[in-house]
Amino acid sequence: QKGGFSTFMEKEIHDQPTAVADTLRGRIDDRGRLQLDGGIIHETVLNSIDKIIVVACGTAAYAGLVGRYAIEHWCRIPVEVELAHEFRYRDPVVGVRTLVVAISQSGETMDTIMAVRHAQQQGAPVIAIVNTQGSTIAREADAVLYTRAGPEIAVASTKAFLAQITAVYLLGIYLAELRGNKFPDEIESLLEQLDAIPSKIQRVLDTSEPIRELARTMANERTVLFLGRHVGYPVALEGALKLKELAYIHAEGFAAGELKHGPIALVEEGQPVFIVLPSPRGRESLHAKVISNVQEVRARGARTFVIAEEGDTDAANYAEQVFYVPSAPVLMTPLLSVVPLQIFALELAAAKGYDVDQPRNLAKSVTVE
Ligand code: F6R
Repeated sequence: QKGGFSTFMEKEIHDQPTAVADTLRGRIDDRGRLQLDGGIIHETVLNSIDKIIVVACGTAAYAGLVGRYAIEHWCRIPVEVELAHEFRYRDPVVGVRTLVVAISQSGETMDTIMAVRHAQQQGAPVIAIVNTQGSTIAREADAVLYTRAGPEIAVASTKAFLAQITAVYLLGIYLAELRGNKFPDEIESLLEQLDAIPSKIQRVLDTSEPIRELARTMANERTVLFLGRHVGYPVALEGALKLKELAYIHAEGFAAGELKHGPIALVEEGQPVFIVLPSPRGRESLHAKVISNVQEVRARGARTFVIAEEGDTDAANYAEQVFYVPSAPVLMTPLLSVVPLQIFALELAAAKGYDVDQPRNLAKSVTVE
């Protein structure tokens, strides 16, 4: 059942190459159309939308945050990401021209169900990105795109997260194509770039021993900070969430640019800080700015652990330790850079003797509001 691994979570982390590959398989036909798994939203409706709102909770909301960077870039449609439990209580501006995307592993999260119902009452079309076949959100949405991650047993979400990012990207690629994106070649290559991701995730898994070793030395830490920028920002949030959930260690994720607006005051001698470094092949200035953040926290005594792209030799000059992931186009990097952080949380929790599959106080699906 656990496929030779000692915990479901370890198995599910290792299932990630397959989860992404299965979610991609056969999804976009030769005419660029997305194959939904059920329901329909007419192309005329999709052509007329002027805004997308993603509603989700926890890790699923972070998948939405990653998706926002891609969809806005590819489709030039504004995207908001809203925690589902906040959504309907703020009288959101939603109508027939708003596409609501509900992301949920279980499809049974009550907060997200209520957000879907609220959106539908306002006349908004709803697409569900859901892992569990036949679940409430899958049934109630106008259309559904299943993440094919397979059953996720461990309470903390891992493979569902990667599959959710993949599915949101498919939706973005489809909308870009449908709405006459100006760079059709880019769309072709995006699909190829996504196809290349599973083997790169496998490489991250095969080279994970250094981060496991680090985790085993950190069982006595009281707080760990995570910094990221652009698509690395939601990765930092997810790294922090995994550590809270599994190892019961206080952890915070910050947008690296926010550091000097407050969080840097937290840094003192020996404070561990993980930094998700943007690719040097993305916007050059972002890479340089986050390198400065590494220097800033290090100058104040932080222990700096950097997730960087292979070949980014700069990183090693400024960090205590660098964990390399294979290089990928900027928007694809979260699918790789989050994996060492998942493994870090798992290994640290295991080192503390905790049950990583069933963390205290948490349920796999939150079916009350
Ligand atoms: C984090 C985690 C939770 C869920 C959240 C949404 O590891 O598991 O944050 O992501 O409760 O659950 P679903 O995706 O089932 O709606």
